[in-house]
Amino acid sequence: MSGDGRPIGVFDSGMGGLTVLRALAARLPRERFVYLGDTARLPYGTKSAETVQAYALQATRLLVGEGVKMVVVACNTASAVALYVLQEAWDPVPVIGVIEPGARAGVAATKNRRIAVIATEGTVKGGAYARAIRRLMGDAHVVQQPCQVFVALAEEGWAESPATLAAAKHYLEPLFDGADAPDTLVLGCTHFPVLASTIRRTVGAAIALVDSAETTAAAVEEALAANGLALGPEQPVQGPAIRFFATDAPERFARVGAIFLGREIDEGAVELVDLRKA
Ligand code: DGL
Repeated sequence: MSGDGRPIGVFDSGMGGLTVLRALAARLPRERFVYLGDTARLPYGTKSAETVQAYALQATRLLVGEGVKMVVVACNTASAVALYVLQEAWDPVPVIGVIEPGARAGVAATKNRRIAVIATEGTVKGGAYARAIRRLMGDAHVVQQPCQVFVALAEEGWAESPATLAAAKHYLEPLFDGADAPDTLVLGCTHFPVLASTIRRTVGAAIALVDSAETTAAAVEEALAANGLALGPEQPVQGPAIRFFATDAPERFARVGAIFLGREIDEGAVELVDLRKA
């Protein structure tokens, strides 16, 4: 019987990456997942590239130690500044980030070759989305806007509150003003898909919204097949569908994580880990 029954590791700075896990589990319903949220050190989006690289290495070391067959870096900030470090460190375990799939989907969606990217401060500062988009479409015009306040609004569960609408107008209206405005908006942060309805209300129906969670799930499916790591069709599955690890506050992880995963998380099922020992 062929196929690889080992779980897929998914790493994020906290709970936001559960939007990626949700998309992965929907697309690959028989695969097993180990999810690690580095809740003790969140947010990554305001930290330096060096710090995020060090944190990401520790976090993914734990996943590799759990015997995962692939690591998915669900965090846009960590993907933006640490992907190559992680790929080198864990070779031959494939490490997939969210930037490249999001950039690919943005390029596929745009008709006027103008793409807006909203993300954390760290992701915007590193410029990884703009580089990835221009690699695929050399003459693309890319505008980037940090929207750090969206992270807190999403964690509060304020998907459609007046405060979220005001923040969306503040950040997004200037980006989509004028005849040369982008026709595509990449949601370049784990948290932003949760705010999609307010973002849509603000930018209007004509703008293509690209959710990097969905596009990453498709990229993971391709990478599993390309590396001979997919679960075989007849292969029996073992262990829980998802194991959750957090580096702090399992209660908050379960409560806030439900917003991003779209279903309840049992606090007792969240294992507390100390990455300083990883
Ligand atoms: N996970 C982060 C990202 O996608 C958002 C939260 C944070 O700043 O840690 O960039």
